[in-house]
Amino acid sequence: PIIEQPRMSVIGTGYLGATHAICMATLGYDVVGVDVDENKVAALQSGRVPFFEPGLPELLRTALDSGRLRFTTDFADAAASADVHFICVGTPQAKDSPAADMQYVDAAVSRLAAHLDRPALIVGKSTVPIGTADRLTTLVQEIAPAGTAVQLAWNPEFLREGYAIQDTLRPDRLVFGVSSDWAREQLSRCYTALLAAEVPLVVTDLATAELVKVAANSFLATKISYINAMAEVCEATGADVSLLARALSYDSRIGGRFLKPGLGFGGGCLPKDIRAFAYRAEELGVGQAVAFLREVDSINVRRRHRTVDIVRDLVSGNLAGARIACLGAAFKPNSDDIRDAPALDVARMLQQEGASVTVFDPEAMDNARRAYPQLSYADNLVEAVLDADVVVLLTEWDEFTDANPEILGRLVSSRRIVDGRHALNADAYRSAGWEYRALGRPE
Ligand code: UGA
Repeated sequence: PIIEQPRMSVIGTGYLGATHAICMATLGYDVVGVDVDENKVAALQSGRVPFFEPGLPELLRTALDSGRLRFTTDFADAAASADVHFICVGTPQAKDSPAADMQYVDAAVSRLAAHLDRPALIVGKSTVPIGTADRLTTLVQEIAPAGTAVQLAWNPEFLREGYAIQDTLRPDRLVFGVSSDWAREQLSRCYTALLAAEVPLVVTDLATAELVKVAANSFLATKISYINAMAEVCEATGADVSLLARALSYDSRIGGRFLKPGLGFGGGCLPKDIRAFAYRAEELGVGQAVAFLREVDSINVRRRHRTVDIVRDLVSGNLAGARIACLGAAFKPNSDDIRDAPALDVARMLQQEGASVTVFDPEAMDNARRAYPQLSYADNLVEAVLDADVVVLLTEWDEFTDANPEILGRLVSSRRIVDGRHALNADAYRSAGWEYRALGRPE
């Protein structure tokens, strides 16, 4: 049966799941969010978003007040309360290999399936190795009391942290990976408003939908590493990668987005996705086709080492005892996410060489402290840069890029700054007497 306005469950209430659940309730659907973590469920149910995402707390409270959104740890409740179940749990990098760790997806799907005794659609949103939907179809049909009346679909999500609401409610495109007309129609009914607003829709088979996501993230990572590879060439020639990127960006075939040189990409998605993709491609016998992704990864990691080299250079080749202010910890601004954060990697490497490192980030302090207790932390920007021998910009928060170079200069012991994100006004810093250095730019 086709249901006009399907009831939904969203399993996994991290960045992806919480945003999806809240946005779907905002669009008018009845939604139950499910998580095994009682604390997350309790927080969300009481109107608190357990991570930093602009605009999301307000939207959560409105959705809760409307009565259309609730949260539970009970999978039987989810199975009974919804017709369409979105799987939004994490697929982190496995501990001992570059592959994706599928234990959370498998557990979520198995727990749900055990209670499915009538027709239902399970929709994967997590980023997964190609072939997962087929594997889960077999698993579900074995477990679910309703058997083949439970179908799988794949509907990858392209949201960026910091822009999660906008990317969910006004995405660039929707991708429906389906194996039947029924699944396609059910999914269409989950996105009526978006389709009416003419968001482009691409309907595919299951494998293509899985591939779209990793192919998109791999392309973005490649674009960033491409310009950072050019930065390495610039460093050897005295050319300026900032100007190079600008000149390239006016070619509309190339475009300027994701062409910003600097410290490179981090976060919970791009780094682990390219590694898992390369690994999966090898399993499928097409490793050579994406062998370049290993190079994309190494270029990216080399930028972190290069940043440390520049800081070391500024203190005459010896970091031992140098006071270094690290501005930023999150993997990018407008996020408190520190997963694979280039900023913290650089801070840690500087400390390993004996520097006295002080880190400050406007939002990611709690997460950073928990993950890297060995680093020192400041409560604010002023405290972070006080008496510093070198200031290093690692995450381009507005608070840092808006800072006045003259005022900042009065606080440090020496006016030396490394702009790891090409985010500062080099001329303004130089006129205020700073020695300004950036990756891929002449001294
Ligand atoms: C990324 C993708 O952009 C989303 O489309 C995708 O849905 C998401 O992963 C995911 O797989 O869930 P996100 O990780 O939130 O989103 O962050 P991005 O805005 O893509 O930034 C990734 C990293 O690249 C950041 O560390 C950023 O500083 C860096 N970056 C970005 C650059 O170094 N240069 C650029 O020009 C752009």
